[in-house]
Amino acid sequence: MTNHKRPPASVLFIFGGSGDLNYRKLTPALYNLFLDDYMPEKFEIAGIGRSAYTIDAYHEHLKDGITKFSRRKGEENGHWNEFSKNVTYLQMDAEDQAAYSVITDLVKAKEAEWGTHPNVIFYLAVAPQLVPAIATKLGSLNLCSDKASTRIVIEKPFGHDLQSAHDLNTLLGRMFSEEQIYRIDHYLGKETVQNIIALRFANAMFEPVWNRNFIDHIQITASETVGLEGRGGYYENSGALRDMVQNHILQILCMVAMEAPVSFDANEIRNKKVDVLNAIRPFSREKVHENAVRGQYSKGWRQGKAVPGYREEKGVAPESATDTYAAVKFYIDNWRWQGVPIYVRTGKHMHQKATNITLQFRPAPHNAFPTESAETWRPNRLTISIQPEMDIRMRFQAKRPGQSMMLEPVEMVFNFDEQFGDQHAPEAYETLLLDVMEGDATLFMRADQVEAAWKVVMPILETWENRTPVDFPNYAPDSWGPEDADAMIARDGHSWINLPK
Ligand code: BG6
Repeated sequence: MTNHKRPPASVLFIFGGSGDLNYRKLTPALYNLFLDDYMPEKFEIAGIGRSAYTIDAYHEHLKDGITKFSRRKGEENGHWNEFSKNVTYLQMDAEDQAAYSVITDLVKAKEAEWGTHPNVIFYLAVAPQLVPAIATKLGSLNLCSDKASTRIVIEKPFGHDLQSAHDLNTLLGRMFSEEQIYRIDHYLGKETVQNIIALRFANAMFEPVWNRNFIDHIQITASETVGLEGRGGYYENSGALRDMVQNHILQILCMVAMEAPVSFDANEIRNKKVDVLNAIRPFSREKVHENAVRGQYSKGWRQGKAVPGYREEKGVAPESATDTYAAVKFYIDNWRWQGVPIYVRTGKHMHQKATNITLQFRPAPHNAFPTESAETWRPNRLTISIQPEMDIRMRFQAKRPGQSMMLEPVEMVFNFDEQFGDQHAPEAYETLLLDVMEGDATLFMRADQVEAAWKVVMPILETWENRTPVDFPNYAPDSWGPEDADAMIARDGHSWINLPK
């Protein structure tokens, strides 16, 4: 029995229905929502693609994706038949306006069958260059003028730079109202990322110290051990700054740095986040090299296995200047954060897969302990691990047991799995798809947010694009990135915090 509300009847059209995102993420997420009784009582999912599939072959393909990638892959798929009755496939040339009548026909048929006008959701899980054409063709359907029930979901990357993101916003704005547009950043759907809001604003003890008076600096790391995973063609035109910093990392930074929202209203939360982006100190081009470091991995080794260098990957130019690592130092010019450096870094083929945030506190104002007792003294730290570890740890000093007053840093840890282990945490895409069906845009990016985030990274992108990196490749696989990034943070008397595995 369900004890929660379900979204209203919905028809979902997935452009890119035969593609990788649907196979690995979207269908497994929708199926998990179904198993957890979160799908609408009446729903229809239509995958749209160019490839030819019989309906049985399409179902088999999707089921295979679930077996391989769903968080429930180990479980019996007893409900699959029930679910897949509501999944269809439309082979369609998305470039052909006439072909779009199948969409209207399907919605009309479902409306007649269900006796209610459903939500109509268009999910564009396609290459970014196809988005404008598809959105324009959808825009000419009468369906899209229904602002309350018709929605469009756009995957990242949203634009390639500030200008193209602005152009895409303008184009979408001609056909859809802002309330209909759901720009995805899947990091916002992660449980541990959403928990930042709970930690900060559902507790009274953190907010009073969450500012420049107590915090020395902040670090955000999103290091990956994977390389390109066959995405050379995309990545070569993107790079780490575009792929991770402009979106995921800046979104995390917003959640860490935003002011307390007055309510959970989608626009209230997004206003508070955009305030952070607008307060990030702009870099002059001359200052980019002091505040940003780029890297590219060489060939090397990981666990005894040879790893090809980035420039040897498929789809990558032999002299490529694309960054596979980026580290940036930001400042936020407002009352709360003035003077507090925020160091962020991300990279492919790094030593460890870890996304975490550390707030390092200022030193205690006076050390009354004898020098030898404080040899192991360390500043307080609050570390929020997003993935794969999911915990929050507070480091503080304790007296080591014994007859002398010796101090030692210890940790208080809250671990998600230990605390909530028996309740399966939803995957980010589950949360986000449910929100789209419910019409809750809180965890999606508004037009101005996306543009503000591009504005932050533009001077770095432009400087990097105009200056050929002379030292590429400059870090080895299985390392912690280029030495210049260590030097950047060391100039401020700090070092990158690498958590033990
Ligand atoms: C995607 C990037 O947005 O996020 C990928 O395009 C990256 O390059 C991925 O690997 C990381 O996501 P997650 O959820 O695995 O941290």
